[in-house]
Amino acid sequence: MVTVITKKNKIAAEIKCDLKNLKNLELKKIKETLNNFGMIYFKNQNLSSDNYLKFAKKLGTPADYPRLKGLNSKYNKITVVERKVTDKGPSFGEQFHTDSIYTKKPPRFTMLLSKLVPKKGLANTEFSSQYLAYKSLPQNIKKRLKNLTATYSSNGPISVTTQEREKEKGKQKNELISTHKIIKKINKKLSIFCSPGHFISFNNLNKKEEIKLKKYLFRHQVKKKFQYCLEWEKNQLAIWDNRSMLHQATPFKGNRKMYRITIY
Ligand SMILES: [Fe+2]
Repeated sequence: MVTVITKKNKIAAEIKCDLKNLKNLELKKIKETLNNFGMIYFKNQNLSSDNYLKFAKKLGTPADYPRLKGLNSKYNKITVVERKVTDKGPSFGEQFHTDSIYTKKPPRFTMLLSKLVPKKGLANTEFSSQYLAYKSLPQNIKKRLKNLTATYSSNGPISVTTQEREKEKGKQKNELISTHKIIKKINKKLSIFCSPGHFISFNNLNKKEEIKLKKYLFRHQVKKKFQYCLEWEKNQLAIWDNRSMLHQATPFKGNRKMYRITIY
């Protein structure tokens, strides 16, 4: 049985079910809820890597992630996002962003399964619904953004700490760059599709206009009323629509280990 509990302004939903034993109708309900809400999560899911990958494959095709190494050769689509209490500086993903927007086809979904987390409430992930953000834009801004594109880079603002670490190790990865329209139709709904963490520039806009529009848009995209904050506990699985939900990790000190899968 699948039970759906709606969270704040329909930005997120908690689903109660057993992901190891899903019936077709239950899977259908999960997919529908994910498309309607943007982010869903499940508590108490003690999944093996096999269970986890099997479930991911029911939602689409697991993607290769260009920036992190796979768990092992058998489970190379599962990547490990880890932070140790001794790590200094910001953790992975500490700015609102869309995963892999610097590629031609960013993944549809991102999944995180928590294996090890600090005390509940200390290391959260914040989501911001870009469906809601688009909906509440004034008409003149919607018109302005309609045909606008922007360029994104894997070396954008969010990657500064990663780049520093790579420099220290003496090996830097190639920069990946891509261009996308700012407004996108996702699941038949219009959404803002712009990742502040990877943003380089708007295209065909003069500097003065760009600075003004960027300031307005970045502020608007993450207004508190569009946000839902997920508090992690062990064996919790979250899935979100990577194209319509911006996300960021909140700063924390502690040990955390998450298994991540992105899906086309
Ligand atoms: Fe991310």
